[in-house]
Amino acid sequence: MGAAPQVEISQVPVHVAIVMDGNGRWAEERKRPRLFGHKAGVASVRAVVEAAREIGVRHLTLYAFSTENWKRPKIEVKGLMALLKSYLQSEVETMLKNDIRLCCLGQQERLPTEVRETLTAVINATAGCSAMTLNLALSYGGRNEIMQAVRALAEKCVAGELSVSDLDEALLSDHLYTRGQPDPDLFIRTSGEHRLSNFLLWQSSYAELYFTDLKWPDFGRDQFLEAVADYGRRQRRFGKTGAQLRK
Ligand code: IPE
Ligand code: IPE
Ligand code: MG
Repeated sequence: MGAAPQVEISQVPVHVAIVMDGNGRWAEERKRPRLFGHKAGVASVRAVVEAAREIGVRHLTLYAFSTENWKRPKIEVKGLMALLKSYLQSEVETMLKNDIRLCCLGQQERLPTEVRETLTAVINATAGCSAMTLNLALSYGGRNEIMQAVRALAEKCVAGELSVSDLDEALLSDHLYTRGQPDPDLFIRTSGEHRLSNFLLWQSSYAELYFTDLKWPDFGRDQFLEAVADYGRRQRRFGKTGAQLRK
């Protein structure tokens, strides 16, 4: 574990979700191939996972590969998949040591066989860990996730297991990849882009958004702690008035 946080954190978010963006531009700025940026980004993943665990974040969700990212050049997709496999293999010991459970959000069936096998092995190995859940969003798309939940619910209605009047927000949440986990409190995106890019569309309806111009390989422990400190300075009103909350 690292040194004590340098910033004052008044409130630790239970669930932090991060769009790890900017690896490609970070590499291009250095006249290096995009994969060089993705490799550098792995160090940021390690630093942020460690810092999150240390301050008591219970759920950390990292957007690593979107349903749209399949449209990238084959060579980049291949490089990302190889990197993912080596990350999983190298991190399993640390996850076990730090009591971190790995989960995957997304279309696991679309991942290359050897990535899927490694992923399943790490998910199974860490299934009993409980201090923090690390969700890797892989071949993940928010609309796709909602669609497959709607389809599953419709099938249950047709089969007579549910009636239409049973359908509510909690039931839909229960059919998402994040079933059983709380919604994100803090949603971070790096690299200066101010968009959701199909990430956790349903779950982020009340997340606090935090944007930074830093590209993902330049985002580490201190920057993560600063984002959490910023979150702690905000007032979440959930539709109520400030006066109601002061009561
Ligand atoms: C984020 O960095 C990582 C993935 C999407 C896999 P990018 O690869 O999107 O980097 P930029 O946005 O092109 O700089
Ligand atoms: C979102 O970043 C996906 C991940 C970080 C894995 P992108 O770089 O793919 O998103 P766009 O293309 O800028 O919307
Ligand atoms: Mg990008």
